[in-house]
Amino acid sequence: MVDLISPSDAEVALNPLLDPEDSTQLPDPSVLVIFGASGDLTARKLIPALWHLHVNGLLSDRFAMVGVARTHLDDIEFRNKMRDAVREFGGGTDPDGMMWEAFAERLHYQPLAYDDDTAYSSLKGRIGDLDRKFGTNGNVLYYVATPPTLYTVILSKLGGAGLAKTQTGFSRVVIEKPFGRDRKSATELNRHAVEVFGEDNVYRIDHYLGKETVQNILVFRFANGIFEPIWNREYIDHVQITAAETVGVEARAGYYDQSGCLRDMFQNHMLQLLCYVAMEPPTSLKAESVRNEKVKVLEAIKPFSPEEAGKQTVRAQYGEGAVAGSEVQGYKDEAGVGNDSSTETYAALRLEVDTWRFAGVPFYIRSGKRMAKRDTEISIQFKAVPHLMFPQGHEDQIKPNVLTMRIQPDEGITLSLEAKVPGPTMHVRPVQMDFDYGTTFGQRSADAYERLLLDAFAGDQMLFARGDWVETSWGIIDPILEAWNDTSGPLPVYNSGSWGPEEAEEFIAQDGREWRRL
Ligand code: BG6
Repeated sequence: MVDLISPSDAEVALNPLLDPEDSTQLPDPSVLVIFGASGDLTARKLIPALWHLHVNGLLSDRFAMVGVARTHLDDIEFRNKMRDAVREFGGGTDPDGMMWEAFAERLHYQPLAYDDDTAYSSLKGRIGDLDRKFGTNGNVLYYVATPPTLYTVILSKLGGAGLAKTQTGFSRVVIEKPFGRDRKSATELNRHAVEVFGEDNVYRIDHYLGKETVQNILVFRFANGIFEPIWNREYIDHVQITAAETVGVEARAGYYDQSGCLRDMFQNHMLQLLCYVAMEPPTSLKAESVRNEKVKVLEAIKPFSPEEAGKQTVRAQYGEGAVAGSEVQGYKDEAGVGNDSSTETYAALRLEVDTWRFAGVPFYIRSGKRMAKRDTEISIQFKAVPHLMFPQGHEDQIKPNVLTMRIQPDEGITLSLEAKVPGPTMHVRPVQMDFDYGTTFGQRSADAYERLLLDAFAGDQMLFARGDWVETSWGIIDPILEAWNDTSGPLPVYNSGSWGPEEAEEFIAQDGREWRRL
């Protein structure tokens, strides 16, 4: 398979920063089977991502998809539902006309009771038919996007029906988060998935890894010679990682109230971001090379004892308040949440990575729902200069340099520097050097799911979590959850629309530092 596409001359003329040499390999022909096809993720993310890939000419022309779920629908009803989904979540590209027709004829639907063996035999027949019709060379990618309680039964039934191995092509499985709810259940799920498909065919998704700005951390660190020499404990005072959301629990209380912020955001996304900041340079971009380095970072984080967990963590729940000018209710009043719920919607941790590079450098990581602003960023706070020869007044306090990687929504990188204010006196104030994705490249960043689907079709596991990474990350999270479970007393509450609880301010102030104001 050697299909290449490049930006057109006209596109390059409009934006010379687009690489004319850039060529993207079209994925191999394949059948994509989505379990949970009547659910939210399929409508909000997976189908819009496939649609964009199709519109951008990035899907193989020998591609077919079959959605499976318990709901009874036929192909036409499914296609209509998916068109509505693209209208609602597709970011404004009109799903009509010939472009939509060409896409829709690849979409199929098969009702399936997840625990019924005969349903899997019928599915096998359907995949065979689509393989013959679309010429997909026996390649199948399964995407498990159901509630997690169904993962094991689906994997077993796929194995039992002989669907996990093909004679002519590949047979891979993408598994959505949450991957387990503690180390024990994640290990069990790993064992099961690997037994049925083999580790090389298991793709554990973390959509943060598909974000352009997250991928750019590797480029920033390892394609620029000037930062790596100072990327260590000699120069870095501390690191802050923030993922602030303005949304509340929305319609997901059934899942979220059993999960909480630590499981939902830290075990996966936040620890992945930390790994990208703290890892050693991989020898290549090969999946194993990058994934080996990330596991080493997690292994260098000492799990907390219950006493330490009390001091090194903060959790809280949102109360009522106002977000973007609208009054919102507190977490306990949300539909589906009991008024005795002690689920955290905010967490902050102080972690240390015990390596030669980072020993003694605190990583403060925080995430919460219903916060003042949607903002995800990593900020590297450098040490102050050893001696200050400039007079300091009130307004011109000299600040150490800060490098900020803005993951979303305002994607870019900023370096804050001190500069002389023009004039006869030696006034110094911080200024910013700014790189902004939108203005520099002038094009929409693809949604993370587009990239991740392409990589799964292409068989590249670099942007997916490896089994040992997932188990090691739960090993960091479990003791915190245990310590929290053993603590009695009410959970701190923060006002919706604020930057989190008072306790989080006190927590970082103990170290003589403060959270960045975003
Ligand atoms: C998901 C969590 O994994 O990530 C959600 O389950 C959270 O609770 C979401 O809202 C955040 O993703 P993003 O891409 O909006 O930062």
